[in-house]
Amino acid sequence: MTDQKATNVTWHEGEVTRADRYRLLKQKGATIWFTGLSGSGKSTIAVALEKALHQQGKLCYRLDGDNVRLGINKNLGFSAEDRTENIRRIGEIAKLFVDAGVIALSSFVSPYRDDRDLVRKLHEDAGIDFIEVHVDVPLAVAEERDPKGLYKKARAGEIKNFTGISDPYEAPLKPELVLPSHELSLEAEIKAVLKLLNARDIVPTT
Ligand code: ADX
Repeated sequence: MTDQKATNVTWHEGEVTRADRYRLLKQKGATIWFTGLSGSGKSTIAVALEKALHQQGKLCYRLDGDNVRLGINKNLGFSAEDRTENIRRIGEIAKLFVDAGVIALSSFVSPYRDDRDLVRKLHEDAGIDFIEVHVDVPLAVAEERDPKGLYKKARAGEIKNFTGISDPYEAPLKPELVLPSHELSLEAEIKAVLKLLNARDIVPTT
């Protein structure tokens, strides 16, 4: 938990509420949080889901590990401490997007259960839906795919603290959805997420 550093600061409400924005956009915001090993398929699913939702007229925004680490989180590495701060910031950013009315699609390894639970609590305390999706493939599958050649480097000792090789991945205990991406087609995965969003009243049935 990061302590509050600045003192004498208080939350200031405007005159336009979250509900007003949701009405304006004709949608309800939510965070869909993909977690899983590097190479598990998080980004691929988020990209396809973004397209499917966009085609249904839903405003989405993707927050993605590599992209965010090139920008707002460029000062963070892969130590446990930095990963925790990475996830904390993304959690806050996702919450802001959802407060603005957007459906936030976040894909980060987010290997630590406590970090993800903190983001979940942040959302729940704000009355915002948080949908945790575990993109669950065996390490051997992710390593075989190795889309960025990073597992090879990690095995060779060229990358330290690599998730799954020399750093832990703590699988969610109670995710809203598990997607074994090595057993499902991308289409089936998108269908499963959309079904869940429909059950949560976030996206109507098409
Ligand atoms: S997280 O652990 O803090 O959630 P994040 O999702 O932002 O990680 O970044 C992971 C991506 O960075 C991976 O998909 C991979 O491309 C790259 N990467 C580089 N070094 C590492 C590492 N040591 N462990 C995991 N991923 C790494």
